[in-house]
Amino acid sequence: MLLRIPGVLTGEQVAYCRDRLAKADWVDGRVTAGYGSAKVKKNTQLPEESPVAEELGDIILTALETNALFVSAALPSRVFPPLFNRYGPGDGFGAHVDNAIRQGLAPEMRIRTDLSCTLFLSAPDEYDGGELAIDDTYGTNHVKLNAGDMVLYPSTSLHAVTAVTRGTRIAAFFWLQSMIRDDAQRTLLFDLDRAIQQIGVDVPNHASVVPLTGVYHNLIRRWADI
Ligand code: NI
Repeated sequence: MLLRIPGVLTGEQVAYCRDRLAKADWVDGRVTAGYGSAKVKKNTQLPEESPVAEELGDIILTALETNALFVSAALPSRVFPPLFNRYGPGDGFGAHVDNAIRQGLAPEMRIRTDLSCTLFLSAPDEYDGGELAIDDTYGTNHVKLNAGDMVLYPSTSLHAVTAVTRGTRIAAFFWLQSMIRDDAQRTLLFDLDRAIQQIGVDVPNHASVVPLTGVYHNLIRRWADI
């Protein structure tokens, strides 16, 4: 499932992040790339151990904890601390698949990457190019969102960032391990959850809401690893 999650950060939070990032020290983005990806990657990043990355990452993760759409879609088990990248003119990232396992700085932070997240911190009119191009069975999806919006997509996807031709594209990116490893099962649960929520809004106290909610949780019981 490829999903846009609007307004993860408020305009105020985006402005704060941008201000902090403008004063931070950036390094070559190949530090977090695997052997294959390093050959097609050209951008800059905050170092993983950067205090600014840690501070802003916490702002993002705190916002996501209470984001109902994110929690329902991702069913997160463990979330990698967000990283930050910057693409200027001529920068881009060719087609690649993210590493299956990510080791963070803390020894216990080792996750299987089920879902990849990109949170846009630049407005679309600040740069040309710089689209996140994600392949799925329908073809290639070109994603370029408002500042503060996030896209969630399966880490199994082949994806790229098209070359920036004007301006600067700044984003946060990270991965998560879901309680539901399989994308198709997770998508079913998301669809079921959304349908139950909708019934609750359209027909409050409908007799089917409780048994359907039971089905939802019993499917999680069958499929979840936590
Ligand atoms: Ni990637």
